[in-house]
Amino acid sequence: MRLRYREGAAARAFIYGGLFWMFLGMLFGLFAALLMVWPDLIVGLPVLEYFTFGRVRPVHTNLVLFGWLTGAYFATLFYMTPRVVGSKLWSEGLGVFAAVLHNLALALTTVSLLAGGNVGREYAETPWYIKWIITATFLLVAVNLFMTVKNRTEKGELYVSAWYFLGALVTTPIIYAIGNQFLLPQNPVRGVNDAILNWFYGHNILGYWFTPVGVGAVYYLLPKLTGNPIYSHKLSMIGFWSIFWVYGPTGAHHLVNGPVPYWVQTIAIAFSVMLIIPVWTVVTNFYGTMKGKWHLVRDSVPLKFLTTAIVFYFITCFQGPMQSLRSVSAITHFTNWVVGHAHVALLGTFSFIMYAAIYYMLPRLTGRAIYSKALQEWHFHLSLWGFLLMFVDLTIAGLVQGAFWAQNQSANFIEGVAMMRPYYILRAISGAVIILGQVVFGWNVFKTVTAGKPFETGQAAGEVAPAQAAQPAGA
Ligand code: HEM
Repeated sequence: MRLRYREGAAARAFIYGGLFWMFLGMLFGLFAALLMVWPDLIVGLPVLEYFTFGRVRPVHTNLVLFGWLTGAYFATLFYMTPRVVGSKLWSEGLGVFAAVLHNLALALTTVSLLAGGNVGREYAETPWYIKWIITATFLLVAVNLFMTVKNRTEKGELYVSAWYFLGALVTTPIIYAIGNQFLLPQNPVRGVNDAILNWFYGHNILGYWFTPVGVGAVYYLLPKLTGNPIYSHKLSMIGFWSIFWVYGPTGAHHLVNGPVPYWVQTIAIAFSVMLIIPVWTVVTNFYGTMKGKWHLVRDSVPLKFLTTAIVFYFITCFQGPMQSLRSVSAITHFTNWVVGHAHVALLGTFSFIMYAAIYYMLPRLTGRAIYSKALQEWHFHLSLWGFLLMFVDLTIAGLVQGAFWAQNQSANFIEGVAMMRPYYILRAISGAVIILGQVVFGWNVFKTVTAGKPFETGQAAGEVAPAQAAQPAGA
């Protein structure tokens, strides 16, 4: 029997799965935060072995990066790509199958990491068989979307979002395979080279996956939400090519002042500074496109999320090149500053873009209007203020910690960790506020799907009918 899937089934499956992993991943983050305040929290409990900090932390990072963000990204790709090229998704069934594989990989990741199956590489902790499932998922999604583009009816120039999406789909599986080293027999790369390869992958998963799909989604959503065409197509293409040419060698900036050849560090620093170029293109294009439309932000929560995400994107991408410099890294490296930086990129920027995207896509995928505007506002404000508290707290904590170690060369490392307790308490509080925001979000999504009023295109606050938006095509 051949199963028939309704249009949008793949995107819906990824949104619902992504939300589940987001909750679970954030709860693990909160638990890790509590363990940093009370390291003995679960000492004496029979589950201690499974929930030590060393196991909980990678579960948090894997679930929020691959379960939540990547799930939401796949949904975005399945929704937006067909619309920008003017064709239907090649196979909804294949998309749903990819969602099943994706969720299977995440479930196995959670169990295997809690059981101690960590292979010891940041963001690449999972055992080899899970890496194969993740790679297969990426390849299935890529085949599906390339076939969709092949069948396109819009025969003119590809809209910029499609460039970013397809670029990410070509490069990410390659980077994933290289960095995870699971194609090499018995992982022969060891020591410093292993670290260099790990960070080639660790940073480039940001550069070739989280950045281009996030930016591509912004280029799709902005014209839809404002009714203005993208300010400059040329700028967006400069951004595209500079991201894909410049990111490659930057990973070793995670190893600056470490036992890595000096020239490798210097190349990584030089290329990191050049990352200012794509940031400049995105920020300029954003403000150019928003011209005359700022009043819409007041009534549109998706636009609120997008606007703040762009500010955080600018902060991330200004911080990143600066902290790769040897003099700055000497203070900030190994401190909470870097954790703050990671969250401004992946939570403040890319997760906020995905909140905007889900609010835009959900009514169009379900035919139901967002259940409650008030809950949307609560989601935005709890996420924003919770996140700002976390970011400011970790940034100050990092500077205090870095200055302490720089000024007290003979100090014990653990002294610099112990003095962080007040900051860790604040971080746990900020995490709880963020999670509360996501509970509101989840409830709103649930009520939208089960009890939302019928949706008519263009009715949501701050959104214009697609006919008014010059680009991209499609609803
Ligand atoms: C979608 C939301 C989130 C994303 C994408 C995210 C991402 C990350 C990333 C990439 C790291 C590694 C940072 C590094 O090594 O520099 C990390 C660590 C961490 N995150 Fe999150 N996070 C999110 C939400 C949260 C929340 C809500 C909390 C709750 C307090 C939290 C608590 C933590 C903790 C405690 C660590 C470990 C920090 C350390 O090792 O010093 N995260 N997260």
